[in-house]
Amino acid sequence: MKIEIYDTYEQMSAAAAGYTAQMLREKPDCRLGLTAGKTPVGMFAELVKLYRAGELSFKDAWLYNLEEACGLPAGAPGTCRSYFHEHLMDAAGIADERLVLPDGMNPDLAGECAKYEAVLCALPGGRLDVQILGIGADAHIGMNRPAPELSLDVSLKLSGDGAQYIAMGVGSILLARHILLIANGADKAQAVADMFSRELSTAVPATLLRLHPDVTVMLDSAAASRL
Ligand code: PGA
Repeated sequence: MKIEIYDTYEQMSAAAAGYTAQMLREKPDCRLGLTAGKTPVGMFAELVKLYRAGELSFKDAWLYNLEEACGLPAGAPGTCRSYFHEHLMDAAGIADERLVLPDGMNPDLAGECAKYEAVLCALPGGRLDVQILGIGADAHIGMNRPAPELSLDVSLKLSGDGAQYIAMGVGSILLARHILLIANGADKAQAVADMFSRELSTAVPATLLRLHPDVTVMLDSAAASRL
């Protein structure tokens, strides 16, 4: 795994945006696997700046996400769809249909999991071009929290506050051609250290990234403080 450490969150975010922009320039119809949450907000703001400066186009890109909330209409507040519209898509001229997510309103949620899995399997080459990840303080990746077993496929998962999501398994994450993990803040420092130093285990899900040959980890100095 390649590690890059930046003094500040802003610098880390700019570097992560630069990484993503480079992917898009090399492959304009890039299949980008995104992550929601607090960590990537700065990266999305930097991507919007590049778009507004005329240095980046998302015209042919396809966006995916690690998960979508169940029981909320598409685009309603609280959905990942609304998050991406707010933080990236509306400001970067990305049409709604370019974001591919499960339908959290499908009464057959197990069927919807299988459907999203099939969508991911049907990607060109059977994989995302890049998957961007945050990391949880418990070293979760996506919604794959420490557990005796983790599913490879899309499945129903619960967030920390008990909300239900349709979420990617570790299979689609590890299949992505490239992985970028970003983390900032002292509350992530132990998880980041564990990712590199603990035994490979589903008890520390981020250690599974060591199975992947092309992972870039971008950290601010606080998140890197226990390395
Ligand atoms: P956060 O979430 O960016 O909101 O800290 C990280 C994660 O759960 O992957």
